Amino acid sequence: MKFFVDTADVAAIRELHDLGMVDGVTTNPSLILKSGRDILEVTKEICDIVPGPVSAEVVALDSEAMIAEGRKLATIAPNITVKLPLTWDGLKACKVLSDEGHMVNVTLCFSANQALLAAKAGATFISPFIGRLDDINIDGTDLIADIRTIYDNYAFETQILAASIRSVAHVTEVARIGADVMTAPPEVIRKLASHPLTDAGIATFLKDWEKTGQKIL
Ligand code: E4P
Repeated sequence: MKFFVDTADVAAIRELHDLGMVDGVTTNPSLILKSGRDILEVTKEICDIVPGPVSAEVVALDSEAMIAEGRKLATIAPNITVKLPLTWDGLKACKVLSDEGHMVNVTLCFSANQALLAAKAGATFISPFIGRLDDINIDGTDLIADIRTIYDNYAFETQILAASIRSVAHVTEVARIGADVMTAPPEVIRKLASHPLTDAGIATFLKDWEKTGQKIL
């Protein structure tokens, strides 16, 4: 499973990228706001660090304006993925931009039928938001499983990008189901390394090591 980092925080992206943990990046208008940076400037900086797909989201609502914004965002760098909302206009824009050879990430997907439409419109990625479904007491991982089955049934090439990942348990679940990609905030990716038994084991080993009176260096 590929790891995308869901942030516009350049320092965090650089740190995780240096560790080999970043296959791509996703941003959205809320993350741009959080960064306090200009969208074109910060997205360019991210594309200079990460060679994989970097999603930048349009904000227009009608297809013509979405296409125009998408084309502009795509001039930032060759690895830009135009992020479009899953509306009828978003699907129209997806078809046009995909046919032009741009990578497209169709976002804000909350049903298997929406994912089916995105695949037919040529989306490179579909982003089902599992955390936001969990927020309204619907199991978001069931949606990932349904989309996996449907895409496999018909050999759709659209990649399932599990989004709105809020916990380490979400990561395990979507990996088990077979999502192609997951995107998570930097703090969730860092937490994947933590386990209380690892910490307890280190503490015991260090205590015993002190008793040996030895040094390695
Ligand atoms: C994905 O592309 C989105 O930017 C993101 O995963 C949304 O996550 P949230 O629901 O935690 O805001």
